[in-house]
Amino acid sequence: MKKILITRRLIRESEDKASKLFEAKFNSNDELYSQSKIIEMSEGCDGILSSLTEKLDADIINKLPDSIKIISNFAVGFGNIDLDAAKKRGIAVTNTPEVLSDATAEIGILLILGACRRVSEGIESAREGGWKWSADYLIGKQLTGTRLGILGMGRIGQKIANIAKSLGMVIHYHNRSKLSEDKEQGAIYHDSIKSLFSVSDVLSICCPATKETENLINKETVEYFPKGAVITNVARGDIVDDEALIDALNRRKIYAAGLDVYKNEPNLNPGYLKIPSVFVLPHLGSATKDTRIAMGNLAIDNIEEFFRTGNCVNKVN
Ligand code: GLV
Repeated sequence: MKKILITRRLIRESEDKASKLFEAKFNSNDELYSQSKIIEMSEGCDGILSSLTEKLDADIINKLPDSIKIISNFAVGFGNIDLDAAKKRGIAVTNTPEVLSDATAEIGILLILGACRRVSEGIESAREGGWKWSADYLIGKQLTGTRLGILGMGRIGQKIANIAKSLGMVIHYHNRSKLSEDKEQGAIYHDSIKSLFSVSDVLSICCPATKETENLINKETVEYFPKGAVITNVARGDIVDDEALIDALNRRKIYAAGLDVYKNEPNLNPGYLKIPSVFVLPHLGSATKDTRIAMGNLAIDNIEEFFRTGNCVNKVN
């Protein structure tokens, strides 16, 4: 039986599955392992089932025991792992696509609604009580008829587009390549981010975090948007230069932001919290029970497939 280290607790159904297939080392207290602890715990293991809370950079990957052949990430994103360093050491890296697209798209829509309809301010007022209703009290931006720009039209982007269309939004998108018409479903393609941002009344960031997308929202690109645009991010914090977005929010160039992901999670930039029009969530994209079980099971299946066949459909490096 192969031995695997599972760095964080999974939902019970997935841990039971792991126990049947592998000799699994569990993290019963769900503590956040330091890099040196991960190296120590990997001793004698054939694979690691990691989570986005572990940064597996070149330094730690180079120190892993030679027996480690696979890192199966419990996430669709894999910006926490240095893919090249893993490849150089002959370690396969896998992710959990598709199973979390519905849940994440739901949060993507929630961010759009939350930011456009001033939900943070609304919740605060409702909790305080005694608000004074008036015709212009907490009026927000209606979605019907507004243009939604989708940055990264993968599975999650396409699902957000579908739901947003039913809310009356007009969909524009930028992607590395134009989609086929059946996937586009009427969405309008832009071959540059400048072109996309300039028509985005609302932006939904859905692309992976890579070297190319790091700080794609920055001092310069924020100026491409129409005045009073809304920016939402359901993908990764690394795509946004926080200082540039906070400055644009404070100048009202950007009307509101809806954020589920941040640089240096869980320590989001405190500047966001001072701005009433910012709607923030604590990285809830895939947080439903069914989805988390499906992700755990897929992360386990990826390891099983890799050791059985020498390859894995969800290998990303
Ligand atoms: C969640 O953020 C994921 O990448 O799965």
